[in-house]
Amino acid sequence: MIPDKAPREDVFHGSEELKRDAHVSSFERYKELYQSSIQRPDEFWGDIAKEFFWKTTHSGPFLEYNFDVTKGEVFVKCMGGATTNISYNLLDRNVHERKLGERVAFYWEGNEPGDELTVTYRQLLQSVCRFANVLKAQGVKKGDRVSIYMPMVVELVVAMLACARIGAVHSIVFAGFSAESLCERIMDSQCSLLITADGFYRGDKLINLKLLADEALQKCRDKGFPLDKCIVLRHLSKETEDTSQSPPAKRACPDLQVPWNPEVDLCWLSLTRAASDECEPEWVESEDPLFILYTSGSTGKPKGVLHTVAGYMLYTATTFKLVFDHQPDDVYWCTADIGWITGHSYITYGPLANGATSVLFEGLPTYPDVSRMWEIVDKYHVSKFYTAPTAIRLLMKYGSEPVKKFKRDSLKILGTVGEPINPEAWHWYYNVVGEKRCPIVDTFWQTETGGHVLTPLPAATPMKPGSATFPFFGVVPAILNESGEELEGPSEGYLVFKQPWPGVMRTVFGNHQRFETIYFKKFPGYYVTGDGCRRDKDGYYWITGRIDDMLNVSGHLLSTAEVESALVEHEAVAEAAVVGRPHPVKGESLYCFVTLNDGLTFSRTLEAELKQQVREKIGAIATPDFIQNAPGLPKTRSGKIMRRVLRKIACDERDLGDISTLADSSVVEQLFQNRCGAGV
Ligand code: PRX
Repeated sequence: MIPDKAPREDVFHGSEELKRDAHVSSFERYKELYQSSIQRPDEFWGDIAKEFFWKTTHSGPFLEYNFDVTKGEVFVKCMGGATTNISYNLLDRNVHERKLGERVAFYWEGNEPGDELTVTYRQLLQSVCRFANVLKAQGVKKGDRVSIYMPMVVELVVAMLACARIGAVHSIVFAGFSAESLCERIMDSQCSLLITADGFYRGDKLINLKLLADEALQKCRDKGFPLDKCIVLRHLSKETEDTSQSPPAKRACPDLQVPWNPEVDLCWLSLTRAASDECEPEWVESEDPLFILYTSGSTGKPKGVLHTVAGYMLYTATTFKLVFDHQPDDVYWCTADIGWITGHSYITYGPLANGATSVLFEGLPTYPDVSRMWEIVDKYHVSKFYTAPTAIRLLMKYGSEPVKKFKRDSLKILGTVGEPINPEAWHWYYNVVGEKRCPIVDTFWQTETGGHVLTPLPAATPMKPGSATFPFFGVVPAILNESGEELEGPSEGYLVFKQPWPGVMRTVFGNHQRFETIYFKKFPGYYVTGDGCRRDKDGYYWITGRIDDMLNVSGHLLSTAEVESALVEHEAVAEAAVVGRPHPVKGESLYCFVTLNDGLTFSRTLEAELKQQVREKIGAIATPDFIQNAPGLPKTRSGKIMRRVLRKIACDERDLGDISTLADSSVVEQLFQNRCGAGV
């Protein structure tokens, strides 16, 4: 019997006031709608689809699929036969049909307080059309891939929607990734154009993004992939007459060195100035690709998760509307970066599909001070606020004073995403930030799922701190044991899904077999999430964390293999093994064991070099916290590294369990003695 870790009394409910106007106002109603979404999906999603514009409508079942690899190729098809355009649905439909042209789409808030811009739906539509014409003039066609490597500026949204407007496939690479990572992603997706910016500030730190982009393009050239078109937005080194696109930046940085290669580089502003602001959308098939987004793969090679147009649009629109209980007078703020799936689904596509008004924030929660988030909440009267547990834990360290300096009385619903939220952080978020007024939607999902799959609905679902609660509409979870048997009632095991929902990924770009192997081979007939999960006696789902070789650092997945291969590329390193070690703010941090080549000695300089090496290969998010010299690694007789033992050493836990399969147990004691950060 699995103990129920959530005591009965620790259950929280949305307020009566919230229930009054909510889209889903009671748990009974949730259950009814859930049943109809499972039993009559055509009707359920068909009604939702009616709110959108279809150039031609679909025929046949709403969803067709095969999840069972033993019966043939895995596929998911949503609204077969329909044609549409997502940028039309997000912009033209809102401006022309719903008459929301003057509604604010984004309040852009720059890194520097006071650096701000308001963009209406009408303005956004014009900018998107202009940039879509620019892309067309550069020869970008339907189906071509376009890499985007930009900071959190409105032009990033413009670039992605311009791609969508002409049927091109965007591949956004988070601006915190290294040149090497960008090169790898450009080459894997065979992009025909790169869009980037000169640079940006992260807090006090100036990032010269163009230098990194140039480095990436040089690497591509060296590897035989010459990409010779790069559109560059001047964000910091701004031209003064640029009033239509962006505000003059407070921290404008005229001295920023922007290397310019006239053979390759094209200026965003000059191109858009010359372009028309009308652009007929490309009418694409429901299953045409919308975007690729790379996520870490357990082999170390990132996978290009591919999402398609119609299903992703309906799913992000519906989850956004119901999970944040979107209302017309809301101001919504998701603090994620658009370079991650959360930003794709819940800054761009979901909110715009609903005609929502959002805050788009370029800066950091701690710059210029730790009150910044709450200052912004008050400035824009934010009513729905969505962030990550790691940000909550970071701010929690500074106590409640910086929060209480601001009123926050506009807040109605709070959300979290990215990793399990520990009860302490949940309670702080609930009690201090939300003043016990605001339900917390703990949304479990993945790059692959496109949108929320396990989540409370704020007015309907009684919340238990730390539980993502119940499935969203159309989602059928199950818990399997190692033999692939479905477990009933309270249980713990592999979290899988039994059938597709509209927003699930369709393939790994360029490698459908890898898609089948990763998600469908282990348990034929199920989509395997890679997460462990517990179901309690009330049917609540509790994510227990990854059960593959993935680490979750500050809500971002990294594969141990990816970091290990960055380490062994250093000439001093013969072998490396990386494990996660719990971290009070980041959730997990990287603890690396390295075995050096014969005759070399470990030093502080080498340690610093190795950390730098990982930063350069992957990006700052992957910087190891600890690197330990490991003259030997604990291995089985067949040579497999026992990571379970390394995890214990990293945490200084002496209870190692069964280590009888270890080839040489003396290495373990040696590693305990050489631990890094003893006492932390
Ligand atoms: O392990 C789960 C964790 O993040 C993983 C997905 O990471 P990624 O594709 O980068 O997308 C993150 C943003 C959607 C999951 O497999 N995860 C995400 N949300 C939660 C979570 N774990 C527990 N609770 C959550 N709410």
